[in-house]
Amino acid sequence: MFAKRVRSRLKEQQESGLYRNPPVIEQSSGKYVQINGNWLINFASNDYLGLGSDPELAEKMADKFQRYGSSSSSSRLVSGNLEIIKKAEKAFADYFGYQSALFYPSGFQCNLGLVGTLFEQGDKVFFDKHIHSSLVKGLQLSGADYYGYRHNRTSHLQTRLQKHLHESAGIVTESLFSMDGDLLDTQGLAELKQEFDLFTIVDEAHAFGVLGDKGTGIARPVADIAVGTFGKALGLFGAFVLLPKDFREYLLNFSSPLIYTTSLPPAQAAAALDILEFIRGSEQGREHLLQISKEMKQKLSAEGFRVGGDAHILSILIGPEETASRVSRELFNLGFFAFPARFPTVPLNRSILRISLTSMHDRSDVTNFLHSLKEAYARIQAA
Ligand SMILES: Cc1ncc(COP(=O)(O)O)c(C=O)c1O
Repeated sequence: MFAKRVRSRLKEQQESGLYRNPPVIEQSSGKYVQINGNWLINFASNDYLGLGSDPELAEKMADKFQRYGSSSSSSRLVSGNLEIIKKAEKAFADYFGYQSALFYPSGFQCNLGLVGTLFEQGDKVFFDKHIHSSLVKGLQLSGADYYGYRHNRTSHLQTRLQKHLHESAGIVTESLFSMDGDLLDTQGLAELKQEFDLFTIVDEAHAFGVLGDKGTGIARPVADIAVGTFGKALGLFGAFVLLPKDFREYLLNFSSPLIYTTSLPPAQAAAALDILEFIRGSEQGREHLLQISKEMKQKLSAEGFRVGGDAHILSILIGPEETASRVSRELFNLGFFAFPARFPTVPLNRSILRISLTSMHDRSDVTNFLHSLKEAYARIQAA
């Protein structure tokens, strides 16, 4: 029965153009990736500041593993609560301006372990409909009553709060939305926070390191708790949650995805301390990234593409799933790697090409990408 179901679901997936079969990256170097022997310019990476491919950081990382060993070999609650991890957590809390921090093995686990533990039956939680799957899974796990509001529409959130809220409520959102690339309306949310008793969780995975003063994100004025991941602009792996001290203690006591898992290796925490220095010193990279991202958006719009995004993530609306895959394939043939986001990552028939820019790209990459995108469309129409 199970094998039959698996086969039939996979067949459906293929027939509807939703089958996922990610290409194998043979090598990567800076903004380039090699696939099937071809070197392509990568517009699908979250290595926004180039730290994940920085040789200096790689060398430091190798030193940390030499010094601290390859594993923590235990959960935080057994014998994995290592001093270097606590030290790095303190440094992260200070840098991002929160009372305390807690590292998790991944962003997915962090969101699941935070949202799924903090909220419980009887609570009311309101969430932006475009939040990351890990946050949605956390809501499902929590047992709370949860209500979606239209993406980044503070007015709709207000209507929903007026209708459903009697006491306090939780809010779950992102600050730079991972697929749409637009920014949270912090001002609107701040006003609602004043009007209602709201407790706000903001996932800043795509903003930390890049946006805000010294890369400290954009949501501090409205976030009671923020989540960051190491695997994007910060060039490492794992995740961190920034939160009040007693909430940290609460998660250490009750968050199963943290309690029953091996903690990150101490070398990761030691490297995380270095990362703060890299981030602090990345002002030029941030400015350059902002500049070329603006240029890319302007040029795409001028050519008639429907493009969204307020910073370094841009979403080009394609529509049908199959067309998005074909555009991505044609771009591949023309030397570019760009990711087609399809259902269920985005709504059905609203497929997008998600372009992420990094500080490693330059203006000629932007121009060449644009030419190739037009060429990709021309080839599809001619076929
Ligand atoms: C907004 C957001 N939150 C959380 C995650 C999960 O982070 P990680 O890759 O560390 O599991 C992602 C990653 O794709 C993300 O985009």
